[in-house]
Amino acid sequence: MDISLPLTVDRSASTSLHLQVAEQFRAAVRDGRLQAGHRLPSTRDLAKQLAVSRSVAQAAYDQLHAEGWIAGRTGSGTYVADVVPLQPATRQRPRPIESEGPRLLSLRPGIPYIEPRVDAGWRRAWREVSAQPPPRGYDEAAGSPALRAALAEHVGRVRGIACGPENLLITNGTTHGLRLLLTVTQQRGQRIAIEDPGYLNAVVAARDHGLEIVDVPVDADGLRVSALPDDVAAVYVTPSHQYPLGGRLPVARLNELVRWARRTGATLIEDDYDSEFRYDVAPLPALAQLDLDRVVHLGTLSKMLSPALRLGWLVASAETVDRLAVARAATGDWPGWPMQAALLAMLRDGYLDQVVRRHRRLYAERRNHTCTTLAAYGSIIGQDAGLHITLLLPDGIDDQAVADRAHRAGLVVAPLSEYRRTIPGRPGLVIGYATPTDEDFTRALGILTEVLRA
Ligand SMILES: Cc1ncc(COP(=O)(O)O)c(C=O)c1O
Repeated sequence: MDISLPLTVDRSASTSLHLQVAEQFRAAVRDGRLQAGHRLPSTRDLAKQLAVSRSVAQAAYDQLHAEGWIAGRTGSGTYVADVVPLQPATRQRPRPIESEGPRLLSLRPGIPYIEPRVDAGWRRAWREVSAQPPPRGYDEAAGSPALRAALAEHVGRVRGIACGPENLLITNGTTHGLRLLLTVTQQRGQRIAIEDPGYLNAVVAARDHGLEIVDVPVDADGLRVSALPDDVAAVYVTPSHQYPLGGRLPVARLNELVRWARRTGATLIEDDYDSEFRYDVAPLPALAQLDLDRVVHLGTLSKMLSPALRLGWLVASAETVDRLAVARAATGDWPGWPMQAALLAMLRDGYLDQVVRRHRRLYAERRNHTCTTLAAYGSIIGQDAGLHITLLLPDGIDDQAVADRAHRAGLVVAPLSEYRRTIPGRPGLVIGYATPTDEDFTRALGILTEVLRA
């Protein structure tokens, strides 16, 4: 049955004529006015009926054809298709954008200083990446061999870990490396010791993997090795700068920890997140320097350049690296080629060392300024290294209430109680001094002193 279509066009509308025709056609099919099998007029007849050019009619049919609403057979005309396409999901109404309140300053720890302008070294690395074609196929699951070799040289030089490319696996950062390691090497139900207070992402990773978490106390030097129970399968530890209290495990305690691990067979997971930054103190050996068979070392670019780069590395025995790479080959979950290639260029050109040197000077000044400004309000610990200090407040003070008060005054700070789990300890504030601009840093410290004075 040939039909005349229930269509009209509005020449004053902003939508083009062929789209108007197509939309009216769809509506007619949806509400049953047109049904499967109905024969449609030729483009010439349709054009005449609507008083439009034939090309408008043709464009409308082409569109409907492409979407599956109509089907055509040469010689027998065009029909309404008997398979009506699925309706596209209706778009959710966009949520109104929350009106931004006044801008908050932040002294939360974790984010390094990021220069507002890019420098020549950064540009050079990315120019080099953009001048190369991408690899012809999948990259190696352990990471680019050239980058693994360059990082082996890097951790050998700056952390004293004797290793080769076979000991390196490129990750998307510490948390990614930790999660992969737990998935491949730890069984659900096993016990893992984690510093308390400690890094919450490590706790969440262990919990997600179904491990039983054993909270281990920390003193002024860091993890209390004598408090480790012998039945844990792994220990997560931040020896170079305990997170968040800032202790640095002395050599005797590092040795004690490795001896303990050799005796119990536990794996030591060394989170070396900010060891590049230390001030007026001698470097301490990395735990991985002492025994790569017992220690898995996690490094990251997050504190050196930016956490948004999502790049880090894991150093372990060649056997562990192989196991992790095999497990991850099936998942496709490893850093992309551009970021790996850029880091390779940055290492080769000495750019990473240059940024660390520059930031070390900036952080040393900021650390001094923070310590002098806040000394009157509590005792400062953890100031020898890293990007934050901890201000211990007098017993009995509610540090969450202090943080809330700071928030009302326009400043975000982290209460120490946020990092504690079951082992009680003094209240305090964990103060990251790296992130803000110079101007914001001064203002933020001003607000904090006002709050503490109150
Ligand atoms: C203790 C600790 N480890 C590691 C990281 C970095 O994690 P990622 O490399 O996943 O960014 C942070 C960042 O805040 C941290 O505080």
